[in-house]
Amino acid sequence: MFNRTVARSAIKAINTRPALYAASTRPFSLTAIRAKKEDPNKDPILAATDRAEKGASGEHEGEFARTDDSVQIQYPPDSQYPAQPVVQGRGGMHFKRTLAQFSLENKVSVVTGGARGLGLVMGQGLIASGSDLAIVDLNKTEAEESAHKLIEQFRIENPGLEQLPQITAHYADVANPESVDSALAAILAKHGRIDNLVTSAGFTENFDAISYPFERMQKLWGVNVDGTYLFATGVAKHLMERNAGGNIVMIGSMSGAIVNVPQPQAPYNAAKAAVRHLAASLAVEWAGKDIRVNCISPGYMLTALTRKILDENPELRDKWTSLIPVGKMGTPEDLMGAVTFLLSDASKYITGAELRVDGGYTVT
Ligand SMILES: NC(=O)c1ccc[n+]([C@@H]2O[C@H](COP(=O)([O-])OP(=O)(O)OC[C@H]3O[C@@H](n4cnc5c(N)ncnc54)[C@H](O)[C@@H]3O)[C@@H](O)[C@H]2O)c1
Repeated sequence: MFNRTVARSAIKAINTRPALYAASTRPFSLTAIRAKKEDPNKDPILAATDRAEKGASGEHEGEFARTDDSVQIQYPPDSQYPAQPVVQGRGGMHFKRTLAQFSLENKVSVVTGGARGLGLVMGQGLIASGSDLAIVDLNKTEAEESAHKLIEQFRIENPGLEQLPQITAHYADVANPESVDSALAAILAKHGRIDNLVTSAGFTENFDAISYPFERMQKLWGVNVDGTYLFATGVAKHLMERNAGGNIVMIGSMSGAIVNVPQPQAPYNAAKAAVRHLAASLAVEWAGKDIRVNCISPGYMLTALTRKILDENPELRDKWTSLIPVGKMGTPEDLMGAVTFLLSDASKYITGAELRVDGGYTVT
């Protein structure tokens, strides 16, 4: 946690460093010393570097690479969230040749935050790949409606198929250990076992760091970080008790590797960096137990919610898409294959990895 006293000592330590180094160490470069002693206008090295006055190279200096405290995205209250439609026409039986390793047949998969958004569509991808599904969400009514929609869509896309996937809906506040335990017990009572987990429950919000209400920051870290940890450890414990292998995919974000602009969201970015490294750390800890843990880091994805926000803020859409090499935001469907791959035997030797699904955002 951020502590002002610690911060002050750290600043003091940084400020006293040059004196300490001057006494005891050799500088890496003479440039800094030269800068102090000589007139910068006469120094050939400084003359060749950027020593211009602020604003001298134009009005856009740094402009597109900084956060802007005035950008405050308004997220609707939970009751007014737009419903996420299920994907049409991507499921169903087909006769294309493909690797059998990608199949999730006879598996039971759990998706937290699966009532809507990315979690709902990833869950749909798992069903299409053969898995049963337990949707876990804070909003149980929406989870039940989504389970119903998924079964109906499956029925339409697989006419005549007698065996339908088992899809259940469960309540949990993923940030609460007791709630997680009871959700896991309820899932086991319905499905008998769990093989795969996807942790998609999470949210973001935008405040500049100085104004971020402390309780909201704790809640954000509670859902994004504690919630991921609690569900992952709960499922891993179950797998170990069964002496069975399994697969976990944590949904991080490209925000765990880069700093989004222009909207300020430092705690979310830090939370997603934590999720990525949690996946790597647990992958190592559980490698000997045949439990793989990987992380998917989506870029900007067009869910029902982001679509609504961007419709209301078209200039934000322009800024975001101008920074994505492929030139457009992703769709939830773009995660169907990625999550299926990481939960299936097709990725049997991949653990502790981060798969970025971001249209190239993080490589520029
Ligand atoms: N949408 C994007 O562009 C994007 C990009 C990168 C990462 N992500 C990440 O993907 C994940 C899903 O995001 P989304 O866009 O689908 O969001 P969303 O708001 O559409 O869906 C999130 C779901 O999580 C549930 N949830 C929230 N708090 C919960 C809690 N305490 N316990 C249980 N369930 C809870 C919500 O009820 C909701 O159904 C999040 O972790 C998010 O940070 C999203």
